[in-house]
Amino acid sequence: MTSHTSKPATDTQTISATAHVAIFDTTLRDGEQSPGAAMTLEQKLQVADMLEQLGVDIIEAGFPIASTGDFEAVSSIAQRSKRAVICGLARASAKDIERAAEALKQARRGRIHTFISTSPVHMKHKLQMTPEQVLEAVIGSVSLARRHVDDVEWSAEDATRTELDFLCRCVEAAIKAGATTINIPDTVGYTVPHEYAALITALRTRVPNADQVVFSTHCHNDLGLAVANSLAGVMAGARQVECTINGIGERAGNAALEEIVMALSTRADALPFTTSIETPLIARASKLVSAVTGFPVQYNKAIVGKNAFAHESGIHQDGMLKNTQTYEIMMPETVGVSKSSLVLGKLSGRHAFRDKLQALGYDFGDNQLEDAFRRFKDLADRKKHVFDEDIVALVDDAIAHEQDRIKVLNLRVVAGTFGPPSAELELSIDGVTALGVARGDGPVDAIFNAVKTMFPHSAVLQSYEVRAVTSGTDAQAGVSVRLEEDGKSVLGQGTDTDTLVASARAYVHALNRLLIKRQRTVPEALPAVGH
Ligand code: KIV
Ligand code: ZN
Repeated sequence: MTSHTSKPATDTQTISATAHVAIFDTTLRDGEQSPGAAMTLEQKLQVADMLEQLGVDIIEAGFPIASTGDFEAVSSIAQRSKRAVICGLARASAKDIERAAEALKQARRGRIHTFISTSPVHMKHKLQMTPEQVLEAVIGSVSLARRHVDDVEWSAEDATRTELDFLCRCVEAAIKAGATTINIPDTVGYTVPHEYAALITALRTRVPNADQVVFSTHCHNDLGLAVANSLAGVMAGARQVECTINGIGERAGNAALEEIVMALSTRADALPFTTSIETPLIARASKLVSAVTGFPVQYNKAIVGKNAFAHESGIHQDGMLKNTQTYEIMMPETVGVSKSSLVLGKLSGRHAFRDKLQALGYDFGDNQLEDAFRRFKDLADRKKHVFDEDIVALVDDAIAHEQDRIKVLNLRVVAGTFGPPSAELELSIDGVTALGVARGDGPVDAIFNAVKTMFPHSAVLQSYEVRAVTSGTDAQAGVSVRLEEDGKSVLGQGTDTDTLVASARAYVHALNRLLIKRQRTVPEALPAVGH
């Protein structure tokens, strides 16, 4: 192997004026594996379809060895994808790589993404491997992946805490073994922009044949620097950015796709790079991911937060009325946010409702629309004014609960001071109706106990939160419930004008997510790398 200090490989690797940056979306892999998030197969397919429409270049669809569910998701997405490259993750083990290759068999364009840790702390404590063994594993895993597909990405997990000389040797070995993309993850969100840029530059200049591959960023957000670090990587020559919708991902998340894309498009003067993203679909993609994961988007989140284009202070409002450019650097329409604030009521028809959904960023087929319209009418009967927030809550609730195996059918609760709180609850479990009755310390406790009589489980309630979706005493209640079982944590959401019904729906929703999580069985420690 050539020394990493040999002649720079970048003589021809100039950064062109309008270079294209490939968007590698890992919402369905890094995003889905984050605590609390879990999606059903149907939901993953919905998200994958959305990502294709959005125009992402590569969809990381899952980690095929992790569970049958992950395998099925990768293979189904591979079969239906028309444009994007579909990618499956694999550790540096033959079993992982073969499982990924099997899942990608039907992909029009498939990529195997194989990774191994390269930092001293990971090699010693996590892998219990020497650097030489890791280097062998890099060569073995990339070569094996290349026997299955032409498109192989290799990642140095914890690259930003890896000794540079060793990282150069690993990258060189991966390129020689056939990797076509080299990903440099900031796995623990530790780096800072100038340091990350220097790392990408060092690799591109020091590693032989670096100009034959695409360098990629994969930055976590533990210090809130994921987007800044990714952009610094691009400025230093990376031409692929790994990111997720709404920035979801392990711990504090990944770089947010919408922020990367809008920074590149809004500041094209300072960041002369293009992407293939259809930016008017961003709001829809954000809503869908929030609904299927149950992760709310923080109000002040850049680009997709509820307040991202809202102007509250008098001075700002005055300026905006005179000229929107006074306080707005992007037009809301460019990311699919419409300013319409038409309030609906019980006399509003299907057309007004469909227009409203579209203005809010939802695009439903006829069946889904009919379902949502029925729920809207039901809500409008109970509530005088139906606001945008009500519609968003109603539609997100419908999307989130669509695939639930356990559903709340009916509920009667006795609460107050006259007698012990009790609940009578009717559930549908895999299509079979069951009735449970239980008492509790309070009405919510009684409901949760009633669920347990029909669906026994050992999950522990970690948090229970109620918020009003809008103002007014007839407002809908949005309830979030977090449960934990065997170290697996899940989040459930429920919305209803009745707080106790919303509580039952949220609790049952969390149990549905637990059912998905239970299927996931990736062994924590990597066994000996078997080639
Ligand atoms: O953060 C990370 O290092 C990863 C790798 C598997 C790419 O997600
Ligand atoms: Zn990651």
